[in-house]
Order: sequence, then structure tokens, then C-alpha cells
Amino acid sequence: MKVLGLETSCDETGIAIYDTDKGLLTHKIYTQIAQHAEYGGVVPELASRDHVRKTLPLIEEVLAEAQLKKTDLDAVAYTSGPGLVGALMAGATIGRSMAFSLGIPALGVHHMEGHLLAPMLEEKQPKMPFIALLVSGGHTQLVRVDAIGEYKLLGQSLDDAAGEAFDKAAKMIGLPYPGGPYIAKLAQQGNPDAGIKFPRPMTDRPGLDFSFSGLKTAFLTAVHDALDREAFNDQFQADIALAFEQAIVDTLVIKCRRALEQEGLDQLIIAGGVSANKRLQSQLETQLAKINAGVFYARPEFCTDNGAMIAYAGAQRLVAGQSSPLNLSIRARWPLSDLPDIHEGTN
Ligand code: KG4
Ligand code: ZN
Repeated sequence: MKVLGLETSCDETGIAIYDTDKGLLTHKIYTQIAQHAEYGGVVPELASRDHVRKTLPLIEEVLAEAQLKKTDLDAVAYTSGPGLVGALMAGATIGRSMAFSLGIPALGVHHMEGHLLAPMLEEKQPKMPFIALLVSGGHTQLVRVDAIGEYKLLGQSLDDAAGEAFDKAAKMIGLPYPGGPYIAKLAQQGNPDAGIKFPRPMTDRPGLDFSFSGLKTAFLTAVHDALDREAFNDQFQADIALAFEQAIVDTLVIKCRRALEQEGLDQLIIAGGVSANKRLQSQLETQLAKINAGVFYARPEFCTDNGAMIAYAGAQRLVAGQSSPLNLSIRARWPLSDLPDIHEGTN
């Protein structure tokens, strides 16, 4: 089955074709980041308009690259939530109408299920059951995954998501949006012995929930303090970036290890934009090796938003016989636990 995947939930138009026999045939991502950068964050209306402009031309490009015609497609999968309503509407309308005109099934895919399954596009794949750490701009969640659609939420952020904390901290020191990759780059020049100390929130009590908003306040206080001391220079920025990144990474590592031990599992997948963070990947690898657990993640372009993960996740459910009805339904908020089991009904 050849599935066209459309991702338009936020500021990236991602289009891909996944073949259940041959694997991923092709994918393209168009990022709107430059258009939103001057506003310091995503402007929903600009995002929707740009998805409207870019989706059809990108579909044509992807088809040409795969040397396929529209009529070769067997199904269409589009992100139907969670995300920005207008942006979701753009992809869902195009995807649903295209499937209708071709007489093939369409399926609305949960964006976070897409992220969660993205590591399955790689050679090194985990086997279910496993623990998933979903870390994006809007979510920080630990989920036990027994099968596609069998998700148990073990813990989540009570306030800011890890990606959001990175983005807000970056903004405080004048770095562009989205700030995570800029903080990570700056941190490479940081001195770990510079003496900047940040808490590892909620790690000293039991449980698997997170809280990152206090860390953000601590970051702001340290910036003000440096400004007062006239010590806010390039080296300070690198040092504070490193201390902040390390605090988030340590916190995530501690909770991942705790989740694996609690559930008696030995495989962790990390997914979502923050899973592209090299320090997070390497420290999880080192720390989890101590308990003989393995870490799995997607290549960098499949950690952040992309169409391949939607085509893949959609294909799994479409092959099992699921599809969405003709009336469009998109959801700005959509708990992962509301998803049906892969063998039940429709989305
Ligand atoms: O999954 P994603 O592309 O979009 C959402 O679904 O939110 O995640 C975007 C988030 C942003 O907050 C961005 O700063 C963060 O992922 N991010 C990173 C890195 N790359 C992206 N954070 C830390 N280190 C990175 N290398
Ligand atoms: Zn995402």
C-alpha cells in the first residue's frame, strides 16, 4: 500500500510517500521558520496561509521524485491534531478531498503518534513494549507503548514542555526562534565549571511528572544577575546555555530511567523536536547502558515535524482497515490515550 502523508500541524509542511512493501519512498519538508522568526514564535494565520500555498506543489514534487502518479496512491494520511486549527484544516482539507477524488481511503493521524513511531523509520528499531519519551515544543510525556494505539500515559509536564522551555530561554538571551538548536549550539562552547547552577525539577520526589517553568525563571534570574554584574558576555551566554541544557537533559534522563525501572522494560524511544538534541541522546545512551537498556531515535529531520512519520503512522492503521469518514474532524487538543487500538473502528 502506497500512502501519501501530509503534516501541517504547525510551521512545517511535510509531505512523504510510504510504501508498506518498500518502505519510505520519498519525503520533503518546507519550513516556515524564517517567516515566523521576526515575530519570535509561530503566527497561526501566517502558518495556515503558507500551508495552503505549499502543500499541493510539494505533493507534486514528492510524486515526481517517487516517479508515481496520483492514481498510483492507495491512501492518504494527514495530521488531524493536536496542533493549530487553521494549519490542520489546510492539510486535512487537501488530504481528504484528494482521497475522495481518487476514490481511496483517508485517515486523520495523531501528530504525537506520528512522532512516537518515527524511530520505526530507522534501521535500528525497538520492539514493543517500550517506553516513549515524547519531547516537542508542546509536549513532554512519558508513555508506555504496548502496541500501536495501546498507550499508557505515565507522566507529563505540569507546565511548560521541554521544547518550550528551550525556546523561552533562548528568547531571553536574544537567540532566534525556535531556540532549542541555538541553545544546543551555543552550549558546545560552554564551560561546565563556570559555576552556573540550575535545579533538576521534581527529580527529588517520586513520580514521572515534569515541571520546567521554574527552570525558566531561574534562567531569567541568572541572566539579570549577570547583567547587573556587567558579566553578560559571549562566554557567559555559552556557559548559561550549557548549564540550562544540562539541567533539562539530566531531568529527562532521570525520569526515563525511573520509567523503565518502574515498568520493568529495557527499551526507550525518544521522539519529537527535542529528541534531536545530541546531549540528550548521548547521555541517555551512557546512563541507560548502566541498566542494560537501549535508546532508539529517528534521524534529525524525523525528530522534528515531517511528513514521513505521518505517512508511516497512517499506513499502520490504514493497513489494519482504519479510515476516517468524509466529514472533516480536526482536534486542536487530543490526548494520545483517546486513540483507538489499531484493530478497533475508525478515527
Ligand atoms: O516536534 P517539533 O518539531 O514541533 C512540535 O510538535 O512542537 O518540536 C519543536 C521543538 C522546539 O521547541 C525546538 O526548540 C525543539 O523542538 N528542538 C530542540 C532541538 N531541535 C529542536 N531542542 C533542543 N535541542 C535541539 N537540538
Ligand atoms: Zn511535532
